[in-house]
Amino acid sequence: MSALAGIKTIKDLELANQRVFIRVDFNVPQDKATKAITDDARVRAAVPTIQYAMEQGAKVILASHLGRPKPGKRDATLVPVGECLRDLTGYDVFVPDDCVGDGPKKLISELRAKQVVLLENLRFHEEEEKNDEAFARQLAELCDCYVNDAFGSSHRAHASVHALPRIMREKACGFLMEKEIDKLGKIVTDPDKPYVAILGGAKVSDKIAVVEALLNNVTGLCIGGAMANTFLRAMGKNTGKSLVEEDKLALARTIIEKARDKKVELVLPVDVVVASDTNATEGRVVSVDEIPADTMALDIGPKTLELVAAVCKRARSVFWNGPMGLFENAPFASGTFGVARAIAAAQCFSVVGGGDSASAVKKAGPEVELAFTHISTGGGASLELVEGRKLPGIEILRSA
Ligand code: 3PG
Repeated sequence: MSALAGIKTIKDLELANQRVFIRVDFNVPQDKATKAITDDARVRAAVPTIQYAMEQGAKVILASHLGRPKPGKRDATLVPVGECLRDLTGYDVFVPDDCVGDGPKKLISELRAKQVVLLENLRFHEEEEKNDEAFARQLAELCDCYVNDAFGSSHRAHASVHALPRIMREKACGFLMEKEIDKLGKIVTDPDKPYVAILGGAKVSDKIAVVEALLNNVTGLCIGGAMANTFLRAMGKNTGKSLVEEDKLALARTIIEKARDKKVELVLPVDVVVASDTNATEGRVVSVDEIPADTMALDIGPKTLELVAAVCKRARSVFWNGPMGLFENAPFASGTFGVARAIAAAQCFSVVGGGDSASAVKKAGPEVELAFTHISTGGGASLELVEGRKLPGIEILRSA
């Protein structure tokens, strides 16, 4: 069964003169001081759906959350995101003070050609995260039909993602959501083998469920990033000052054994780039058997990268989530960019998920970016899909 079975797409909806509510995921990273958007990928990714709805003559109402505002705090405003969307599309983007009530209603009723409404942060209302039906009904008053293009939020059973489509008669996915479900669905249910997963990031504990699911599906598993330190320690290596989850050592050993039992090729670092601390301006490559006690591992080394590249070269499908090191600091970026290039060179069906690894693919340059089959806009959502879980924001779009 196709991962999209039972889900209408925006093309199946009559949009002319309809007020269409498009749930987007404009939860973008911002500079702490200036609030400037540091990566507009999620906004860009929603533009085809927005443009299509506009071309069909719809009145477009966009809605998103931004950050995790504390109750009563209204600081995470979507106004800078509205400006970003205006620059990308040329549309006038009106951001009312709130996402429900008379303000947005009036703005929507007065919309003209080339104008859209971007509702203010849905999470300014606690009811959003509570999946509150009364709040969803207030949102429903604003629109005639519902489109979800917020793949990155589809693992959240929140009002704009779940309660609202539950009460809307006309609902569909947008183009971004369609692509995400299609590409991730393929890698979850029907990957061409050999299928290799590359996992990085800080913590084993964040990835337990996904590792367990992947071990039933992959032929190869490469582990890098700080989470690899826990595996190295579990294998009896001295890891110096490296970040290690002491309470996950037994789990790491179990994963190593399971991989062996299931004949999954497990690639762990054989060399790493170490430095005295995370602010260091240079690092040096050492074998994992010789990590000095006063240093920490901050990237995978060149020999490890070669091993990962060799596994990728043989693969027909690759899923990647999580950086191989502290890639935001140049001396510790080679492993992460090297993995991006290795996957691109493998010319296989490749999917990357997670904000950091997806942004590393983009930073690696247009040739690398274009060589990827799919760069997911979802971090947590893509991991939950790969774990084999059903996502509430997707399931609610399926017709009974
Ligand atoms: C994300 O960035 O993963 C999504 O926008 C969901 O955000 P949340 O983790 O704050 O729910």
